[in-house]
Amino acid sequence: MRGTRRSRPQRGATVIRARVTGVGSAVPKKILTNADLEKLVDTSDEWITSRTGIRERHIVSEGEKFSDLCTKAAEIALKRAHVKAEELDIILVGTISGDMPFPAASCLVQRNIGATKAAASDVGAACVGFLYGLHLADALIQSAKAENVLVIGGEILTRYVDWTDRNTCVLFGDGAGAAVLQATKGDHGILGSRMKSNGNYADFICMPGGGSNHPANDPKSIEQKLPYIKMKGNETFKIAVKAMADITAELLTEQGFSKDDVKIFIPHQANERIIDAVGERLKLPPERVYKNVDRFGNTSAASIPIALDECLQKDLIKTGDLVLLTAFGAGLVWGSVLIRW
Ligand code: ACO
Repeated sequence: MRGTRRSRPQRGATVIRARVTGVGSAVPKKILTNADLEKLVDTSDEWITSRTGIRERHIVSEGEKFSDLCTKAAEIALKRAHVKAEELDIILVGTISGDMPFPAASCLVQRNIGATKAAASDVGAACVGFLYGLHLADALIQSAKAENVLVIGGEILTRYVDWTDRNTCVLFGDGAGAAVLQATKGDHGILGSRMKSNGNYADFICMPGGGSNHPANDPKSIEQKLPYIKMKGNETFKIAVKAMADITAELLTEQGFSKDDVKIFIPHQANERIIDAVGERLKLPPERVYKNVDRFGNTSAASIPIALDECLQKDLIKTGDLVLLTAFGAGLVWGSVLIRW
């Protein structure tokens, strides 16, 4: 069922949209299974599978770098989009685990792919980093500040996992995904996006050390295990389900669509129970809710572009389909993006 859509900014007579013209992803080769984790901490395959849906995750080996994963994903996306790196106007990398605190990961990707004229900046929005990147890319394209944008979501959170903390070490995996967005005239592309945050819950998921408050070079940081992920999982869970379902429903209504118009819903892959609960609240049939958390775990900012790439490679998305993306993460931040493919 369709209603009236909100009017969009236009250049000339025709609507300009940010269209996704190429997607790519890359994950490390090494796989860590639940059985491997049983040897590290007091956990079981049964607990991890039933509470999270995760069976295995890809994790980086020594020497593997964040910027290399992003570069690989970007090169695939550019090739599929038939866009040369030199044509890019800006690169936005959604991440909280770049190679180093500075320079930005996006600058390293820019160098690696040879995007000579591109501006580059990182977007720090944890698991929602890729969607914040799409939101910004759409605004840049709508306002004619850019024509070709590369948005990457990537993460190597396993380097910040405390491998003695069973509450968190079973959850995360590594990877990167990239999308090329191009200014096009017509109905295909990002139709709308909504982002939110609530810093009152900043301590629900955080890494207290490694920033300027408790620098990594302070011996106390290591002693007190500060540069590691801390999470109030259960409290986060409850907020995540409602926030994701609400923002998704709001976006659909704002754009004049109903759940029946959506071909595929790709939620952030943190926990199968969260995904199912959000799908149920939205009354979406399970076959239209995409899941791959069993094979990748929570790859944070990389989870949606990796899943999107899989959907495209499996031919689950065709031109004209409505694709709905929703994520939630540390901040707390959450957001949703609706795309006409
Ligand atoms: N193996 C066995 N037992 C465990 C494990 C484990 N790996 N981890 C926790 N437990 C135990 C706990 O100690 C607790 O035991 P107790 O009752 O004796 O104290 C029990 O299991 C239940 O713990 P809960 O925390 O209540 O478990 P819950 O069902 O909430 O699942 C989980 C925990 C998986 C973390 C879930 O809460 C979750 O997925 N939360 C949301 C995470 C999320 O979405 N984060 C946002 C993105 S992350 C980012 O932005 C970087």
